[in-house]
Amino acid sequence: MNWIIEALLWISPAYTANMAPVFSHRFNFLGLRRPIDGGRMAKDGNRLLGDGKTWQGIVAATVLGALTGQVLSIWGLGTLITGAVIGFFAIFGDTVGSFMKRRIGVKRGGKAGLLDSMDFIIFSLLVSLPLYPWKLEQIALLLIINPVLHRSANIIGYWLKLKNVPW
Ligand code: CTP
Ligand code: MG
Repeated sequence: MNWIIEALLWISPAYTANMAPVFSHRFNFLGLRRPIDGGRMAKDGNRLLGDGKTWQGIVAATVLGALTGQVLSIWGLGTLITGAVIGFFAIFGDTVGSFMKRRIGVKRGGKAGLLDSMDFIIFSLLVSLPLYPWKLEQIALLLIINPVLHRSANIIGYWLKLKNVPW
């Protein structure tokens, strides 16, 4: 398989995981659609994470990451477990990104440039380093095309009325 396709497929659980909360948000499964920070404020007067980061989002991301990994196992590009791990770290990175956004004073849903698109991919790539024999050019390529992929996915989500903002 082409090295570019293989890299994209291998990291794809990070993308499905990052999109999962947008789909799951219309439901409130087991009452899990509540903010991770429980509404708490940091000393700077801003929310710790904000209402956009819920427990349900974490669960949905990990589950969809796992399902993606299961599908990828058909081509030997991961397993249910690697998908779950990549998916969890993707949404963990997304949470860290929101923490950083709140610390620099950007409100929920506000724009934060590269932070919005790179947070999840950096964490999922880091955790997948020992899981797959990455070539340097694969990692470089994923980091370069990620902002474009991420933005395109968000624009589609906005068109489909799944997201309030196209970023
Ligand atoms: N979401 C969620 N739980 C998560 C992550 C995301 O419920 N852990 C849902 C929220 O409805 C959120 C939407 O997915 O609004 C889009 O996610 P994202 O763009 O990451 O959140 P924002 O609302 O933009 O908030 P932030 O500024 O903190 O990134
Ligand atoms: Mg956002």
